[in-house]
Amino acid sequence: MAKAKKSVFFCQNCGYESSKWLGQCPGCREWNSFVEETVSAGGKAAPAKGISGSEGRTGKKNEPVRLAEIQVREADRVSTNMEELDRVLGGGIVPGSMVLVGGDPGIGKSTLLLQVCRQLTIQGHKVLYISGEESLRQIKLRAKRIGEFNEHLYLLCETNLEIIRSTIERLKPEMVVIDSIQTMYNEEVSSAPGSVSQVRESTGILMQIAKGLGISVFIVGHVTKDGSVAGPRVLEHMVDTVLYFEGDRQLAYRILRGVKNRFGSTNEIGVFEMREKGLEEVKNPSQALLNGRPTDASGTTVVCSVEGTRPILIEIQALVTRTNFGLPRRTSVGIDYNRVNLLMAVLEKRAGIRLGDCDAYVNLAGGMKLGEPAIDLGIVLSLVSSYKNQVIDEGTLIFGEVGLSGEVRGVSMAETRVREAEKLGFTSCIMPKTNVEGIQGKYKIKLIGVSNIKEAMEHI
Ligand code: TYD
Ligand code: MG
Repeated sequence: MAKAKKSVFFCQNCGYESSKWLGQCPGCREWNSFVEETVSAGGKAAPAKGISGSEGRTGKKNEPVRLAEIQVREADRVSTNMEELDRVLGGGIVPGSMVLVGGDPGIGKSTLLLQVCRQLTIQGHKVLYISGEESLRQIKLRAKRIGEFNEHLYLLCETNLEIIRSTIERLKPEMVVIDSIQTMYNEEVSSAPGSVSQVRESTGILMQIAKGLGISVFIVGHVTKDGSVAGPRVLEHMVDTVLYFEGDRQLAYRILRGVKNRFGSTNEIGVFEMREKGLEEVKNPSQALLNGRPTDASGTTVVCSVEGTRPILIEIQALVTRTNFGLPRRTSVGIDYNRVNLLMAVLEKRAGIRLGDCDAYVNLAGGMKLGEPAIDLGIVLSLVSSYKNQVIDEGTLIFGEVGLSGEVRGVSMAETRVREAEKLGFTSCIMPKTNVEGIQGKYKIKLIGVSNIKEAMEHI
């Protein structure tokens, strides 16, 4: 008997399901993101078969096991030989895990994964790269730029999941790359490739394969602004690890950020640079980001932000000028715009600096995006330095969170930041007073503890 079909509406951004069309998604507040899809009546739109139910993730009969009896070996992880990627993954690839790599089109996801394939095949692992976007010739051309490949890499241009499943079962590779999930389709689902139900169903099938055969699967997911295809958010909860590849396409630096990780800490970042011959790891991002920094210019400061476990020194630039007419203009690049506005209000109220009739532009160098509050004090001092046209000594590092009453609050991992600054040859450090205790005298770098923004301003 043919299954009855019914039609439902899905938000293409977050996967919210509704029986009728809605203008705004109640789940993610996105406008105009609902698309009608047909699903078989009865079951839910995308049952992730084999994950719940009577059979466990391994496909074997499901019996309760004592925790103590489960064997885990850290050595099971497979290193990708790329330190930046290994760190974000939590120490290497876990066999049988599913990793989603999301990012804007053209940012370098395919390039990164092809490089991972290369490193793994060099170690003798059998890898299958499945592309639904590029022809074999295109992949070959890309591979040529990256380097030599050996016989352990297999390529397949296919979008039909049933064929993919049988190929994987026959070939039994140790790792599979799916580029991209939005091009894959399952004949049993009637909606178009890239729709929420297709993407979910495809991921469910891949999950079964990954857990059943112990194969690590890397899935590429495009982030789209217009909502024409389902974004990676729809499947974030299904996979083990979610990595986002971000950066400005015009600039060379690319940041790989761990957003979710069942096998390691999140918020770790890996820094890469896009070159002619593929992505190159940036082992010392602070040094790279501070390269070519202007000296003797007002409005620039160097701050330290800790991403995951790693301190990154980066330059903040501010430009404060008189507004010529009407409403003052404020823009920020790489830093939250509202945070900049808030800090300007704090400066106005607590330090008596009249910024109300000033335009202000605040930039983070190198196309980076940072959200850690520890960069607050750097933003404040950049603004003051530009406003007063006074240069801050180039050997000074600044960090600290700024509160609404103008107080400078302590931040975590202060010692890590100080150590990184010393390593890069900084001579002094303006930081929260509470953080100075405990590390005073341990380092050669001069530590200047401040408790509010007025005190900090005296050191410019
Ligand atoms: P790609 O991996 O195709 O992006 P995605 O899969 O995320 O859509 O990368 C595309 C860009 O990278 C493209 O604009 C060309 C550039 N690129 C280089 O600069 N150097 C290289 O060695 C390679 C392979 C790509
Ligand atoms: Mg691609």
